[in-house]
Amino acid sequence: MAEKMSLEERRAALQEIGDTIRQCRLCPLYSGRTHAVPGAGRVDAEIMFIGEAPGFHEDQQGLPFVGASGKYLDELLAKIGLKRDQVFITNVVKCRPPGNRDPQPDEIGTCVETYLKRQVELIRPKLIATLGRFSMALYFPPDARITRLHGQPKRANNRIYYPLFHPAAVLRNPNLRPAMEADFKRMPALLAELADLPGGDEPDEPPPPPKQLSLF
Ligand code: URA
Repeated sequence: MAEKMSLEERRAALQEIGDTIRQCRLCPLYSGRTHAVPGAGRVDAEIMFIGEAPGFHEDQQGLPFVGASGKYLDELLAKIGLKRDQVFITNVVKCRPPGNRDPQPDEIGTCVETYLKRQVELIRPKLIATLGRFSMALYFPPDARITRLHGQPKRANNRIYYPLFHPAAVLRNPNLRPAMEADFKRMPALLAELADLPGGDEPDEPPPPPKQLSLF
């Protein structure tokens, strides 16, 4: 159990998961990838961001959120005094879907069950910020609308689950910018609420991936 592991053991285990992901062939996405993208950041991060899937630049570099969305994510982090090496950033699926299509339910199911759940157990973040509808659907009802739910923290298991728009959606629709920035600015206060807790317990089992997700 991750609770009984030292920080060094957790770091080593997280590294090992990354190595396994880089060689993973559990779903068809492996065949189109240049690099798998396990995630990056601190093993003892208080905040874990979960995006959707690597895009072109992430696939090229093997790192999460290094394209335009990542640059915007860095700007949002800077607004609350954080740099990306102070958090952990990963995705629901670790390999780029061809042509940036939506990840399929079986791909999501395999990747979440095999890798994401274990990453969360090892990192034990106090706040899980979901970026976009695919990661939101892991912790919130599958029919939830991101336009209604964004910025509304859910408290469970000594942890906060915090649904946010996907940075790419905000770049496509600048009308979402004020809401995205306001949601980010609430994060320090949410973390302060949890300051006295040791770290999040293991999360609820994410529900099986929904067959159909609403777009907004
Ligand atoms: N979009 C995502 O969801 N994840 C990335 O890593 C990059 C873009």
